[in-house]
Amino acid sequence: MGTVVDAPNREANGSLSEKKPTVVFVLGGPGSGKGTQCENIVNHFGYTHLSAGDLLRAEIKSGSENGTMIQNMIKEGKIVPSEVTIKLLQKAMLESGNDKFLIDGFPRNEENRAAFEVVTQIEPEFVLFFYCPEEEMEKRLLSRNQGREDDNIETIRKRFKVFLESSLPVIQYYESKGKVRKIDAAKPIAEVFDAVKVIFTAKDEKVKHHACVIL
Ligand code: ADP
Ligand code: C5P
Ligand code: MG
Repeated sequence: MGTVVDAPNREANGSLSEKKPTVVFVLGGPGSGKGTQCENIVNHFGYTHLSAGDLLRAEIKSGSENGTMIQNMIKEGKIVPSEVTIKLLQKAMLESGNDKFLIDGFPRNEENRAAFEVVTQIEPEFVLFFYCPEEEMEKRLLSRNQGREDDNIETIRKRFKVFLESSLPVIQYYESKGKVRKIDAAKPIAEVFDAVKVIFTAKDEKVKHHACVIL
């Protein structure tokens, strides 16, 4: 592993930053419904959904040299070094051909946040934060049934601890910059999406208004 600004990252960033992509970070505790709502946003608003967790799981499956390390970290609910995750995100952004991204489950800690900013020079448009009580998230994770090695009660407790200690401070950081859009994620899926739609529609209206003023 090199530093966060090693050659492949810089090359990837060259073409990425030229594109000036729109990035929305989608954050919330494990099981708060990030992936579920991202699917809805993709269908309605034309974003590309990139789940950091999904990219890391795909990396394990691909048999990459980092696979064993990633698998061990996920089993323990720990956060994989930013260098690895950011490279996967950059690659997926470049390959997508899109310029609007939902980055789900990232940044998970201060290291993720700072490294992404330095390497990509991208500031998120806003942060969508799904708030949900632990009791509800635990119930959802235990019945998710996707065969995930980390959806067991022991790992779930570790993930909740990491969320409180490492991920919440990142949300607080963006809160202090006025970038957080908080959603009550304990409601049924359709009601959560109603609240999400309001936020993305308001964003699109703002863009249209701006275009009218320029024209
Ligand atoms: P995350 O990506 O935040 O970990 P998921 O979107 O995978 O969460 O959702 C976790 C589980 O909870 C899934 O089985 C999903 O179908 C279910 N789920 C998602 N949103 C809701 C909701 N609002 N109410 C009830 N169950 C939900
Ligand atoms: O978001 P998701 O629940 O899919 O993440 C599963 C696991 O992937 C996390 O508990 C963590 O071990 C790892 N992960 C990570 N860094 C991220 C996102 C996920 O290490 N930014
Ligand atoms: Mg998810």
